[in-house]
Amino acid sequence: MFNLSDKVAIVTGGANGIGAEIVKEFLNEGVKYVAILDINDEAGKALEKELAVKHGEGKGKFFICDVTNDEQLFGIFDEVMKEFGAIDVIVNNAGIARDTLELYKKEIEINFTATVTSTLKAVELMRVDKGGRGGTVINISSVAGITQLSPSVFVYGATKSAVLHFSCCIGKEAYYRYTNVRVITMCFGLTDTEIVTNMNSFDDIVNERIEQLVGLHHHQKILQSSNIAAKGVVQAYNTGSSGSTWLVDNSKIIDITENVDESYKIMSKKTVLSEILS
Ligand SMILES: NC(=O)c1ccc[n+]([C@@H]2O[C@H](COP(=O)([O-])OP(=O)(O)OC[C@H]3O[C@@H](n4cnc5c(N)ncnc54)[C@H](O)[C@@H]3O)[C@@H](O)[C@H]2O)c1
Repeated sequence: MFNLSDKVAIVTGGANGIGAEIVKEFLNEGVKYVAILDINDEAGKALEKELAVKHGEGKGKFFICDVTNDEQLFGIFDEVMKEFGAIDVIVNNAGIARDTLELYKKEIEINFTATVTSTLKAVELMRVDKGGRGGTVINISSVAGITQLSPSVFVYGATKSAVLHFSCCIGKEAYYRYTNVRVITMCFGLTDTEIVTNMNSFDDIVNERIEQLVGLHHHQKILQSSNIAAKGVVQAYNTGSSGSTWLVDNSKIIDITENVDESYKIMSKKTVLSEILS
């Protein structure tokens, strides 16, 4: 069992939606400090003010940061390291769902590349075999990464599948035993935030499907709250092993590591590598 009490945390995409709820839940759980990284200046500053009233000045600090800008991202990691000596938890949550021709490369960069960059930096800073004190990285995937939806936001789903694969492998015991850096993946189901209403595609066939889906979910009122998604992150932090995968869907929080492991075993059944390694 782990607990967030007195920990130093970073949450990317933390100014709105699920990220903002994660920040709030982390402070409710007693973290010493949380850095909120986001491109949305207005929402970030408003959240910082709100947190200061509830938890006192300086517990939650907003930094304007585009996660695809390594200089900005690493600069903030350095600042937090300088002030507190270590970082204990990083949640790579920033994301967009824009499969348009203009934005799909940016989408890959934000959802996958920046998550990889931040995870690698976290491992470098936290790993016990290189003088760190260990820590936890929580990467945000989606039900879109574990289902084969079509027509759908294909690129978005692929970025989330990539996040899942990368996080599971770098988090596995065989690597974790050297680093002591837990890597955990969260898959959220449809959650009531702006990413859902802003979702769009290069293809109107997909856009119509998105409209139907969103309409259906609103109609049936089964869009879960961003707070339950954040509670799922806290539960995964408290009880999840490294390399584990968690589903928060339809307001239920479940450890689905076994399902993910089983799926990959089935997919790799006929490969030579799996014969050698089994
Ligand atoms: N809402 C859902 O249904 C759902 C489902 C599954 C997974 N997710 C994932 O949850 C995460 C949070 O999304 P959300 O639903 O809260 O959406 P949201 O749009 O409310 O929040 C995303 C946040 O990321 C920030 N952001 C975007 N680009 C950024 C960048 N380049 N640098 C820094 N910050 C940036 C935005 O400003 C925003 O504050 C995302 O990774 C998303 O893919 C959401």
